[in-house]
Amino acid sequence: MTDTYDAVVIGGGPGGYNAAIRLGQLGKRTLCVEKRGKMGGTCLNIGCIPSKALLRVSELYDETKNHYASLGINASNVAYDLPMMMAHKDKTVDGLTKGVEFLFKKNKVEHVYGMGVLAGGNRVEISGNRVEIKGSDGTTRTVEATAIVIATGSEPTPLPGVTVNEKDIVSSTGALTLDSVPKRMLVIGAGYIGLEMGSVWRRLGAQVTVVEFLDRITPGLDGEIAKNFQRILAKQGMTFKLGSKVVGVERKNGALQVAVEPAAGGARETIETDIVLSSIGRRPYTEGLGLDKVGIKLDNKGRIPVGAHYATAAPGIYAIGDVIEGPMLAHKAEDEAVAVAERIAGQAGHVNYDAIPAVVYTAPEVATVGKTEEELKAAGIAYKTGKFPFSANSRARANASTDGFVKMLADAKTDRILGVHMIGPEVGNMIAEAAFAVELGASAEDIARTSHAHPTLTEAVRQAAQAFGGWTMQM
Ligand code: FAD
Ligand code: NAI
Repeated sequence: MTDTYDAVVIGGGPGGYNAAIRLGQLGKRTLCVEKRGKMGGTCLNIGCIPSKALLRVSELYDETKNHYASLGINASNVAYDLPMMMAHKDKTVDGLTKGVEFLFKKNKVEHVYGMGVLAGGNRVEISGNRVEIKGSDGTTRTVEATAIVIATGSEPTPLPGVTVNEKDIVSSTGALTLDSVPKRMLVIGAGYIGLEMGSVWRRLGAQVTVVEFLDRITPGLDGEIAKNFQRILAKQGMTFKLGSKVVGVERKNGALQVAVEPAAGGARETIETDIVLSSIGRRPYTEGLGLDKVGIKLDNKGRIPVGAHYATAAPGIYAIGDVIEGPMLAHKAEDEAVAVAERIAGQAGHVNYDAIPAVVYTAPEVATVGKTEEELKAAGIAYKTGKFPFSANSRARANASTDGFVKMLADAKTDRILGVHMIGPEVGNMIAEAAFAVELGASAEDIARTSHAHPTLTEAVRQAAQAFGGWTMQM
């Protein structure tokens, strides 16, 4: 007998598990299929959460060792205990992945650990040895659903000549589980993963060299922010080799020999290192999914094309998260999950792609929402700029953490906020106010006239907004 559901969700990451939970809340009989053996997807298992756990402990270590003395705290003989740090990370991951199962139960969502394969029409074949559907024999089982949501996520983009073994040539996954601090680490790609994981291992003592293809770091982020970000990271001891590409890695003399060439071509040089982290981006993951059975064709970037409201070319089949177009971010996947579930339930779910924030969780953090200055210029939109440095923010000074600034871009005529870009302490939390402002179509004056508690770092956002009216007060 084939079991029938209102919805089957393939993938248990932030896209999949949030879609399943929202569908459950909306009264839909829902099954979530996950092949990993644990819920939470890339984000909870090998992405957002373990990386943030290591960023936190390595930052505490670095702060204590290198900055406490100047604040009058004697913390000599500070040492790290890597197994304990990893245990903190693993415990955090474990708690959160189990938490998803709890939320499923609470919202009456069924789940199954196995590989979900589209079997044609509205059918999904599930294979795996931990199938936990009632009546399952633990091998292969077919279910039917009125709606199928694909949320199969992404995987690291491979780089020719760099064969990842997750030991000394690693992707982000291996960089989260190194069993000792390397003397030297070479990072390929100055994006989110390279700079976050590079920061973790630099703080613990590795000499980190970042090789980036372009002539700037963090492409896509506001150029002025990126320039300052690079300067600050370099001051912390990270070395950058921009406009360069890695063309191969060899093992020789007990170390890795990395062949690097100028991106535009030219003389090759060799850099010796102990660990190579390949982080040149991620690509959508659809391996073995059976897309051909339902007539879905991938676009030229390997993504599942979707039309309005996440509908694919196949009737009743939807796709969300990293596997479709847009920024590969957990909260973007989560927003789409809620929207698609509401659409399936006949409601009006919607995502505003102009108001999705992004954060690089280094120290200082970088946070952004809306249009960059480069995008506004390219679109020919007349804008004005308001800026405020953390060196003039009283709380940042009291905290002895004054690197960075807030930059607000607003429409020159209407004063509507078009983009907010920040680098500085705790800006990852502060970007929420800016995202809310963009979502509501707020003007800079709205923020300038909103009371912000003193002394807080958030006042820097208000001061940047006040800069438009020329009434910034704390310079
Ligand atoms: P995923 O989380 O990749 O989940 C997809 C799931 O589907 C996987 O568990 C996979 O096993 C399963 N699956 C695939 N195919 C099948 C199948 N056929 N049958 C059954 N199951 C299947 N984003 C942020 O917003 N903030 C961060 O701080 C952040 N940090 C990151 C750090 C790292 C190191 C990495 C790698 C990523 C990070 N991201 C971060 C990105 C974030 O993890 C992704 O954007 C997010 O996980 C995407 O969610 P998803 O549900 O689309 O896919
Ligand atoms: P990325 O796209 O952020 O950065 C990749 C970098 O590699 C770019 O700067 C690119 O120009 C460079 N590059 C590409 N090919 C290269 C080559 N051959 N040689 C040298 N450099 C090359 O990708 P990354 O860091 O791998 O992360 C993948 C995605 O995961 C991110 O884009 C983001 O969506 C997500 N993520 C988000 C995080 C967050 O929200 N804090 C943290 C980690 C990952």
